[in-house]
Amino acid sequence: MVVAFVSDIHSNLEAFEVVLADVAARKIREIYCLGDVIGYGPNPRECIELAANLKLSLRGNHEEAVLNYAEDFNDKAKSAIEWTRNQLNSRDFDREANYRIWNYLDEMRESATLGSSLLVHGSPRQPTREYVMPQDVKTPAKIRGVFAAFPNKLCFCGHTHIPGVFTDDLQYQASKVLGNEFAPDGRRAIVNVGSVGQPRDGDVRACYATFDGSSVRWHRLDYDVAKTMAKIRSVSALPEFLAERLGRGR
Ligand SMILES: [Fe+2]
Repeated sequence: MVVAFVSDIHSNLEAFEVVLADVAARKIREIYCLGDVIGYGPNPRECIELAANLKLSLRGNHEEAVLNYAEDFNDKAKSAIEWTRNQLNSRDFDREANYRIWNYLDEMRESATLGSSLLVHGSPRQPTREYVMPQDVKTPAKIRGVFAAFPNKLCFCGHTHIPGVFTDDLQYQASKVLGNEFAPDGRRAIVNVGSVGQPRDGDVRACYATFDGSSVRWHRLDYDVAKTMAKIRSVSALPEFLAERLGRGR
């Protein structure tokens, strides 16, 4: 059975809708979200409603921040989190609808297993917090430590918004270097599925991944970036940088 992994939607409804339509066109019914449905973007409520229909949605650091405090967020991310929290408490919607959203966020788990794979937002060591970045291969002890922190063969994650694979020989390959396809062939691997709503690998297109049990495939899709940018710019509490970066994919 083929499953789809989406992550880091970041309240980008235009990108999320395009991805969900593409997944549906492939007749894939099991979609796992690896966290950060919200934060940064202009449509948190709508994105949560779509995520609630998925098979599973894990907690990301932005869900954690909206539920608790955004203490280790930079100022731009923090003002987006405060605006997001206000949207989710908005009196324009009835209380029950707001309760449903907050309950949904509160019940999100930090990790899950799927067959012989572990699913997390950031890393097996610190599921909502730790970033495993491409340049971390220069610090082999870190990558070794991350691999030592989980028993599963594969780990699927998001968080860095950079799609690619770390293998247990401590190598990293970006999805584009791999031609958007990776077969573990018995190796252990940490697979970053990329970001739906705020890609940071220089490609502005929405990103998600599918897995058929033997191969991972990344998919890149055009969406109406200009529309999402204009929506962000229409909200004064959302910093200009959050719009501008969508246009650069950084
Ligand atoms: Fe994120």
